[in-house]
Amino acid sequence: MSFLDQIDNIKLPQHIAIIMDGNGRWAKQKGKLRVFGHQNGVKAVREALEGCVKANIKFLTLYAFSAENWNRPKLEVMALMELLVTSLKKEIKTFQENGVRLNVIGDISKLPSNAQKKLQETIEATKENTHCTLTLALSYSSRQEIVDAARNLAQQVKQGKLQADDINDELFSANLYTQNLPDPDLLIRTSGELRISNFLLWQIAYSELCFLDKMWPEFTKEDLFKSIVDYQQRERRFGKTSEQL
Ligand code: FPP
Repeated sequence: MSFLDQIDNIKLPQHIAIIMDGNGRWAKQKGKLRVFGHQNGVKAVREALEGCVKANIKFLTLYAFSAENWNRPKLEVMALMELLVTSLKKEIKTFQENGVRLNVIGDISKLPSNAQKKLQETIEATKENTHCTLTLALSYSSRQEIVDAARNLAQQVKQGKLQADDINDELFSANLYTQNLPDPDLLIRTSGELRISNFLLWQIAYSELCFLDKMWPEFTKEDLFKSIVDYQQRERRFGKTSEQL
């Protein structure tokens, strides 16, 4: 039986975020180059997206390339950018058929111009889709995002458009790259590493965390469904007691 049948449709997470980790190690275990791991990682991206569409998850956010990933060997960075462009070309049809809207967060200006162009085109072409929003975090740093929000707010105060006392949780969230997304309910990380690695630090304040002991290229829809079932078995208290819920 599929874990899909065990999902309670009344308690669905609205937003799932994933740290796709372990492509390099998976390839190494097989005696292959790291790029081979990334190529197979794309298949797992498809699994995750199809799984979300099937399970009716409205927001999926994938950590595809961190700001720190620019420090990797040049060839690997180039291969990842190329993979992004070819995948977007290939997947546009799937996005349209499944009502997937593409969104990006991160410092896109650092990406090669063909990647920026393909992203913009795909965002524009899918902007009316409403079934699921796929957000790719590219050249993304959560600390940088928080710094940018603080700078924006400081500038508004300096220009007299805002009182410092009016800055609160909600206003701060509205100045993050994720201003149009709800906070993730569930964060999944593959590869067995127990870290957040500068991903959505503000937004995951109350997210449930799920660490999987398999490498990203091995991730399947069933892993997604099982993580949703695990999530539904937890009690989210948001600081309250069980009795208050
Ligand atoms: C982590 O594995 C993975 C990445 C840094 C890149 C993720 C990219 C893809 C899955 C493919 C392209 C993406 C899209 C959206 C088309 P790692 O290289 O850090 O693995 P390691 O920790 O074993 O070295």
